[in-house]
Amino acid sequence: MKLPYAESYKIKMVETIKKSTREERERWIKEARYNLFNLRSDQVFIDLLTDSGTGAMSDKQWSEIMLGDESYAGASSYYKMKEAIKEICGFAYFLPTHQGRAAENVLFSVLVKDGDIVPGNSHFDTTKGHIEFRKATAVDCTIDQAFNTKNECPFKGNIDLNKLEEVLKNNPKEKIPFIVVTVTCNSSGGQPVSMQNLKDVKKLAGKYGIKVIFDSARFAENAYFIKKREKGYEDKTIREIVREMFSYADTMTMSCKKDAIVNMGGFIGFRDEELFKKAVVYNIMFEGYITYGGMSGRDMNALAQGLKEGTEFDYLESRIEQVAYLGKKLTDFGIPVILPYGGHAIFVDAKRFLPKVPKEEFPAQMLAIELYLESGVRGVEIGALMADRDPVTRENRFPELELMRMAIPRRVYTNNHMDYVAVTLANVYERRNEIKRGVKIIKEAPILRHFTVELDRI
Ligand code: F0G
Repeated sequence: MKLPYAESYKIKMVETIKKSTREERERWIKEARYNLFNLRSDQVFIDLLTDSGTGAMSDKQWSEIMLGDESYAGASSYYKMKEAIKEICGFAYFLPTHQGRAAENVLFSVLVKDGDIVPGNSHFDTTKGHIEFRKATAVDCTIDQAFNTKNECPFKGNIDLNKLEEVLKNNPKEKIPFIVVTVTCNSSGGQPVSMQNLKDVKKLAGKYGIKVIFDSARFAENAYFIKKREKGYEDKTIREIVREMFSYADTMTMSCKKDAIVNMGGFIGFRDEELFKKAVVYNIMFEGYITYGGMSGRDMNALAQGLKEGTEFDYLESRIEQVAYLGKKLTDFGIPVILPYGGHAIFVDAKRFLPKVPKEEFPAQMLAIELYLESGVRGVEIGALMADRDPVTRENRFPELELMRMAIPRRVYTNNHMDYVAVTLANVYERRNEIKRGVKIIKEAPILRHFTVELDRI
């Protein structure tokens, strides 16, 4: 018999989590203005809000914490991180930042200006936020299959080369500072980009003299999918695949809170010394000196170790198979989720789950509220609330996909927790026809509104 997957680690320390009553949850979510970001973590039983910074560090990472060098300049921890980045990602220059969006802020301060156009595959919200904040435009060139939740295309994160070429052809080169490729593509459902697509994008970008930047938060999960799904890569190691992936990027940003399995941290990787030098100025201004840039020495040590652990096949297999385990349970209950299952999360198709709730009443947010009320499981809306208003017309934007994401933290929950989540959602699904109305906005911020928005039930 083929052996099943099993976690490549065992548990040394545990953290208590608490159940609550439906009455308590009714009160707490109302006090939170129906925004799940406003809940206190002890009001949540299973927290699938995000897989970002919520992973469990290993014993080796914790021992690295004790070895951290907190020197302001030239800390050994900086050099440890530099070596790990060179070895795993292949970038000679790097700048540490406190997280992924900080890396975007520093790099885009050098590269993006008013009126620019930045094509990519469903830019993540902070990436888009940093582009639009600079009065530039993010153009989504993701393949059309990504917008059909039932389509089982193995690389739904891919960039449509025709859409991309249209953008490159129809705009002056000076207006396109770079193409951003997100691996895996969070906004399209944690979907991978194939090696062939990365290669083709780089080639096309080269033809027009444009740089390629990877938003690489979940680069290792992307490599796992390439190994499993792309011909010619089945016998390559994750590290070999990762090195080849990055060979098609000129520059990269990474939120290390995902695949590098740390609670805080990020960096920018460069090949071009000139660009690195320009970014140094902003890094010092916004983040900190070159050799710590917003991170403690101990955190840089844990990050270097995390990059190594996060690129081991056995770990990635148990991680991604656990996500698929939840996906399969939901599919068995008939619940509409994005197929294939994502690397870091299961995305529930809220339009199909709650067809009676009008799009103006934010069905995915309503679904996340119902999920929480049912048993204290917290997911997150990835739909019209997150899509913000159009920066010019100020009208609500309604993206093609209206999703409720359940992101699985790394090395944190067991499959019993996954069973609990699946039954919770199945119970909501059973009474879906009684849910006819959603929520309305009471107060919102001008950008990245979903974090702080105040809502009320209709
Ligand atoms: N890029 C991607 C693809 C991301 O998913 C995130 C964060 C960032 C950049 C920004 O990184 O949070 O370290 O500043 N995603 C989290 C999430 C917040 O829940 O998906 P950050």
